[in-house]
Amino acid sequence: MKIVSTEFVIGAVRHEQLPEDGLPEIALAGRSNVGKSSLINRMIERKNLARTSSQPGKTQQLNFYRVNGSMYFVDFPGYGYAKVSKAQRAKWGRFIESYIRERKQLKLQLLIVDLRHPPTEDDRLMYDWLRHFGIPTCVVATKADKVPRTRRERHLRVVRETLGMTPDVPLVMFSSETGEGREELWNIVRQAIAG
Ligand code: GTP
Ligand code: MG
Repeated sequence: MKIVSTEFVIGAVRHEQLPEDGLPEIALAGRSNVGKSSLINRMIERKNLARTSSQPGKTQQLNFYRVNGSMYFVDFPGYGYAKVSKAQRAKWGRFIESYIRERKQLKLQLLIVDLRHPPTEDDRLMYDWLRHFGIPTCVVATKADKVPRTRRERHLRVVRETLGMTPDVPLVMFSSETGEGREELWNIVRQAIAG
C-alpha cells in the first residue's frame, strides 16, 4: 500500500466530535500495551504519528488518523489496565460500545492480541461481544518478532482456539518491529472497505 498522506484528525471523547466526512473507518481494540498504536504507525509508515508509549493506558480517547484522504484508522484506548478509574472506564466503555454498534462508517474491527501469550479473558469477552453484534472482525496477533519462527504456527493455533474463532474470521500474524504481515493486513483492510 502506497501512503501519500497521513494526518491526525481528532481525539474524540464524545459523539459530536466524530468525523462527519463519511469516510470508511477501521478500528483497533486490544489490551493496553499490546501494540495498537505501533501497528497503525507501521501500516501508515510513520514512526510516531499514532502515539505509542511503554506506559500502558495512555491512549484515552478515540484517535482518528486519516490515510490518503480516503479512510481512517481509529485507535481505541486499551482495555484491562487497572489504574484508570472505574467511573472513567465506564464512560469510555459506553462511548466505545455505542461507536462500535452504531457507527455506519465502521467497516472492520481489528482485535489486536499478543502472539506470545494466549488471549486473555478480556480478549475473549471482546471477541464474543463483536461476534454477538455481527461486527466484521479481523484478529491480529502482533509482536510476532518476539516468537521464534518454529513456534509461530503453534502460537497462532492457541490464539484461534482460545478465542474460539470461526474459520470465517481472518487471523493475521504481524510485527510492528519488522513489518511482517503488513501487506496481508492491507489486503484485508482494502477488501473490507470495498465490500
Ligand atoms: P495503549 O495505547 O496504552 O493501549 O497501548 P498500545 O496498544 O497502543 O501499545 P503501543 O503501540 O504503545 O506499544 C506498547 C509497547 O510495545 C511499546 O513499547 C512498543 O514499542 C512495543 N511494541 C508494539 N508492537 C511491537 C512489535 O510488533 N514488536 C515488538 N518487539 N514490540 C512492539
Ligand atoms: Mg496506544
